[in-house]
Amino acid sequence: MSEIEIDYAILKTADDLPQPEEVRDLYATAATESPLNETPQTAQVFADLYATALARNDVVGVCARQQGRLVAFAYGHPWTWEEQRNEWGENLKTRLGEQASAIDDTIALFLLARDPSVQRRGLGRGVLMEWLEAVRDQPTWLQTTDIDTPAQRLYRSVGYKEIGHGPEAPNNAPSLVMLRPRQAIRPRANTA
Ligand SMILES: CC(C)(COP(=O)(O)OP(=O)(O)OC[C@H]1O[C@@H](n2cnc3c(N)ncnc32)[C@H](O)[C@@H]1OP(=O)(O)O)[C@@H](O)C(=O)NCCC(=O)NCCS
Repeated sequence: MSEIEIDYAILKTADDLPQPEEVRDLYATAATESPLNETPQTAQVFADLYATALARNDVVGVCARQQGRLVAFAYGHPWTWEEQRNEWGENLKTRLGEQASAIDDTIALFLLARDPSVQRRGLGRGVLMEWLEAVRDQPTWLQTTDIDTPAQRLYRSVGYKEIGHGPEAPNNAPSLVMLRPRQAIRPRANTA
């Protein structure tokens, strides 16, 4: 990593967060890789969801840019069942069953991706850790494709655990729902 300069930024306003087109292009490039092998249409769906989320004022995103180019991104926002009055939400609730309450009043991580040109150089983990810190280690959850992916390994390694399945992922199989419970307060460095 030493030969490239990466700038991280935690962003909370629609003016500062990346444009949906930039996020679409990043996700499309990342997710066409094996084992996801997703189509550009899926990236467009995720970009549309992101565009909708930008209308909120509580999105937290973390960008990594290399010479201005978006090379990794994570974003999410607070999430409650109260807000989910739609078919997708009903489907998620039914499939989660008694685990549904575990994701109420949490933060949802909606997207994580990094450009293949910088793969396995710690950028995916980097933006995720910055994002977790930005949401102050509150409980967070996500949906991911239920196959062995680099993303799933990364999520498990930072404390996410599966709690059930949700609506279909892009591979048409039920998504895996993973929750990272509230973390213990990190000990402060000893300044004495
Ligand atoms: C998941 C993703 C963001 C990881 O980004 P990355 O910068 O390449 O990964 P990192 O270098 O930060 O590695 C973090 C961890 O991911 C896992 N990982 C990353 N690449 C991997 C690979 N090729 N094979 C197996 N595990 C891998 C490992 O657990 C790794 O930790 P380690 O290096 O300590 O073993 C990236 O693979 C990606 O964009 N995937 C496509 C989009 C996606 O799946 N998004 C999540 C949808 S829910």
